[in-house]
Amino acid sequence: MSGGSAKRVAVVRGDGIGPEVMESALEVLEAAGAQFEQIPVDIGLGRWRRTGIAMTKEDLQTIKECDCVLFGAITTPPDPGYRSVLLQLRRELDLYANIRPFSSGDLDFIIVRENTEGLYSGIEDVGAEESRTVRLITRLGSERIARKACDLAAKRSKLTIVHKANVLKSDHLFLNTCREVAEERCIPFEDMLVDTAAYNLIVNPCRFDVLVTTNLFGDILSDEAAGVIGSLGLCASANVGEARALFEPIHGSAPDIAGKGIANPIGAIRSAAMMMEWLGEAEMARRIDAAAEKALDRGMKTPDLGGSCKTKDVTAAIVENLLEMRS
Ligand code: NAD
Ligand code: IPM
Ligand code: MN
Repeated sequence: MSGGSAKRVAVVRGDGIGPEVMESALEVLEAAGAQFEQIPVDIGLGRWRRTGIAMTKEDLQTIKECDCVLFGAITTPPDPGYRSVLLQLRRELDLYANIRPFSSGDLDFIIVRENTEGLYSGIEDVGAEESRTVRLITRLGSERIARKACDLAAKRSKLTIVHKANVLKSDHLFLNTCREVAEERCIPFEDMLVDTAAYNLIVNPCRFDVLVTTNLFGDILSDEAAGVIGSLGLCASANVGEARALFEPIHGSAPDIAGKGIANPIGAIRSAAMMMEWLGEAEMARRIDAAAEKALDRGMKTPDLGGSCKTKDVTAAIVENLLEMRS
């Protein structure tokens, strides 16, 4: 998987099932004929346990020198002394848009999550008796995520702005800015309270097309959406900025199933397809998605989907489908 003017991809395997699903994604990319140089970067909890630091400045520099990042999954312990490498990367690379597509049967919608501010601002004051987290909403942050969402909605049907402006005064700025951008771009839009959106995602998910929302709401709604389409293990995401990007499944390191060889690799494989599209290989991305779809249609399912296949069986079926398509 390398060539003369090949792109350089930082490959972060991570913790738990991260390395397992990454292996599958890399096998599938190879079968699809992807040409890129892999730059392995060992960051995350495993690294922290071994060396006391989860990601160094040098690691960050190595990552910045690559064209993009392919990321497995990491464990982020709820320890006040630990800084999530994923959040650091989103911030340092200014990956302000987290694009999370969900499709299965009749369902086809995208959650566009603001990825750098909101309740993830990092502005926190932690005390023994009282702790605070600042929910930062800026016009610039809201404007740029609204633009990304409108770019996607322009090719589809409508935009739903998800907020909690009935209670959170900070969401007036988010809502009004998103409205202004959608009006300026002539995108049909509606707005919806986040609790109502959570309900509608369960009872009427077909009504959604592109949803745009703030950081924590997007995090929670996207795991809910994953449940609606069948499993977290199916879902992919792109974290994008102006010139940089990181691709990762939505799920985490899944310690409950790590090492058992039963992780669903499709979220990681679809993330790899999103990466190829971002690298300008849209046709290859479509082939990878189609090969994964075909494997699912033929019943190649891991236990999270009610099947009995292993990670390697699903991967092998997708690889075989790709090789058939190439021949
Ligand atoms: P999780 O997403 O790892 O797992 C939630 C549930 O979904 C588990 O039952 C797990 O077995 C299942 N699941 C997840 N991915 C699956 C897959 N590919 N195939 C089959 N089943 C799958 O969430 P968690 O257990 O709450 O978190 C574990 C750790 O992962 C935490 O430290 C959390 O902070 C971290 N995390 C990391 C990322 C990331 O790296 N992008 C995302 C979410 C959570
Ligand atoms: C996600 C994860 C991350 C988040 C954690 C691991 C920092 O849940 O990518 O959805 O909260 O954004
Ligand atoms: Mn999450």
